[in-house]
Amino acid sequence: MDISLQQVEYRYQANTPFERLALQDVSIDIPSGTYLAIIGHTGSGKSTVLQHLNVLLKPTKGKVIIGEREINSGKKQKDLKGIRKRVGIVFQFPEHQLFEETVEKDICFGPMNFGVSEEQAKLRAKKAIEQVGLAQEIMDKSPFDLSGGQMRRVAIAGVLAMEPDVIVLDEPTAGLDPRGRKEIMEMFYRLHQERGLSTVLVTHSMEDAAMYADRIVIMHKGKVYKQGTPKEIFSSPEGLLELGLDVPEVVRFQNKFEHTFHAKLSKTCLTMEDLTEEIADFFKGSDRK
Ligand SMILES: Nc1ncnc2c1ncn2[C@@H]1O[C@H](COP(=O)(O)OP(=O)(O)O)[C@@H](O)[C@H]1O
Ligand SMILES: [Mg+2]
Repeated sequence: MDISLQQVEYRYQANTPFERLALQDVSIDIPSGTYLAIIGHTGSGKSTVLQHLNVLLKPTKGKVIIGEREINSGKKQKDLKGIRKRVGIVFQFPEHQLFEETVEKDICFGPMNFGVSEEQAKLRAKKAIEQVGLAQEIMDKSPFDLSGGQMRRVAIAGVLAMEPDVIVLDEPTAGLDPRGRKEIMEMFYRLHQERGLSTVLVTHSMEDAAMYADRIVIMHKGKVYKQGTPKEIFSSPEGLLELGLDVPEVVRFQNKFEHTFHAKLSKTCLTMEDLTEEIADFFKGSDRK
């Protein structure tokens, strides 16, 4: 399902003394099957963008196209369930939203809320718990008896059990240890590929953005500062560094290398393998001189 934000403005508490302009002239295309990463400092508007993707917020100006639907500041929208069923959001610290007596009930809640039968929901729960790498025995436990990492996975399983077409992730690995982070990111990437999902990831990790995303959007003070492929974004890292944003380690290394040797490698490398080859070529070339 294609999604597109077109010149979106969003004001919190519009027309009150507390009004706050959170997004300004934001245009982002997310064609079906895209893996998009959104990066930016705290307060730059990332979570506000995400909430437009399943109409938790409606633009105060501009429009959001979600599949066949157009959402704008105008008339009241009907049947938002139809959209919310297809766009699943994993919020920051999703484990705070667990509330049922058992893990199974918690995972089944979403699908059943959207009209899936109990029997079907349980089958989906079974599959989802496996996808997030947990054992089936956990189903009968109380979510509150689990470790933080397990709770996070249960909360993610709840979103997967909705079987959405678009999966929206707001810093899904914040607070996890490096191994847990890697497992979760790999799982989302697998799902993205196997099911042809669209994935929208908000992250502070430039490594993850470079590794998984087809496109990157940099948000700054409520606006799109820059967008493009990882290569386009990281081939001129100066702008990012100016904003105080990080770049992937491998890009930083290439940058330093090029400064030290007063040279430019033939391309921007996003993996160690690529960079190693480029440097090897560089030295081979200089031998010949
Ligand atoms: N519920 C809210 N009420 C008023 N202002 C908000 C609310 N949520 C966020 N904001 C403001 O909107 C801006 C963007 O916030 P947010 O989208 O949460 O940024 P990010 O996710 O990049 O940290 C910030 O200035 C923030 O203070
Ligand atoms: Mg946020």
